[in-house]
Amino acid sequence: MASILQKLMTPLVSGNPEPPRNKVTVVGVGQVGMACAVSILLRELADELALVDVMEDKLKGEIMDLQHGSLFLKTPKIVAGKDYSVTANSRIVVVTAGVRQQEGESRLNLVQRNVNIFKRIIPQIIKHSPHCIIIVVSNPVDVLTYVTWKLSGLPKHRVIGSGTNLDSARFRYLMADKLGIHTSSFNGWILGEHGDTSVPVWSGANVAGVNLQTLNPDIGTDADRENWREMHKQVVDSAYEVITLKGYTNWAIGLSVADLTESLIRNMNRIHPVSTMVKGMYGVKDEVYLSLPCVLNAGGVASVINMTLTDNEIGQLKQSADTLWGIQKDLTDV
Ligand SMILES: NC(=O)c1ccc[n+]([C@@H]2O[C@H](COP(=O)([O-])OP(=O)(O)OC[C@H]3O[C@@H](n4cnc5c(N)ncnc54)[C@H](O)[C@@H]3O)[C@@H](O)[C@H]2O)c1
Repeated sequence: MASILQKLMTPLVSGNPEPPRNKVTVVGVGQVGMACAVSILLRELADELALVDVMEDKLKGEIMDLQHGSLFLKTPKIVAGKDYSVTANSRIVVVTAGVRQQEGESRLNLVQRNVNIFKRIIPQIIKHSPHCIIIVVSNPVDVLTYVTWKLSGLPKHRVIGSGTNLDSARFRYLMADKLGIHTSSFNGWILGEHGDTSVPVWSGANVAGVNLQTLNPDIGTDADRENWREMHKQVVDSAYEVITLKGYTNWAIGLSVADLTESLIRNMNRIHPVSTMVKGMYGVKDEVYLSLPCVLNAGGVASVINMTLTDNEIGQLKQSADTLWGIQKDLTDV
């Protein structure tokens, strides 16, 4: 006897269902991975979302919980598994797996533990999605983006670190809040390492095209009586502060990764401060990834903006690069 399904529908097309066109995978379903996943779902960017983790019960719980919300989402297929076959044909893979900082611990301290995890993850991603773009989020993000580039064999423009996209968002929020305007109306960039040696570009900070340095030539320096420099210090300290208060950071990074994903999926040519391979730029001689303003479209990083930086800012960028190279040069098997 015919089943309900057979009675209900007359198929017009036989064979395999349509493959996904905008599949996004998130590797690691911890605090950051789930914030990325939910932000991507709510922005309606993917036609299929895949989640991977080594903790099977947690993964199953998260996927069930999300699937139960399907009615309220526009992503028709949400899948999960320990096996990377669930990630096949992804356009974008967001990697958030690994250990996170403990209270007071620096990002760079996490490096060897997370490199070992990446050696298992990256080859599996490439095996199932050889044409994907990878966004690395795990820390230390710049070093792990370099490691991902090496392990994946992908061209450099298809391996992107979330970098200072978050630091810049924090900076814009703090500056805008102090000026009493919306975050999007303060234009400012934090470049370099995501973390302790990040570089605030005071020479380019502006509101509606009005350069703040022309209003206060000392902005960002020790001599500044208004102490705007404190805003960058707060950016550097923010992750430590949030981790002390709630144990981890997740919402802002999740929202910022969804924003990057949107520029890639929708081929937007928007400019974001993300971690890219900067050898040969601003006098950097080593193969390091650090953040510069990058044009993101469906192919990945289409180009890097040559910002007009002061000598001091270029010096700080080089210092960021040296810090990262100091760690990378001792990594083995990558
Ligand atoms: N780039 C940024 O701006 C930024 C911001 C916040 C956090 N982070 C980083 O993101 C990472 C994740 O942080 P979190 O708070 O979600 O940590 P978490 O401990 O909550 O989650 C990490 C997840 O990774 C999984 N995992 C571990 N090894 C794995 C493997 N081999 N394969 C698949 N999954 C694996 C764990 O099971 C866990 O579910 C950390 O490295 C953290 O420092 C980066």
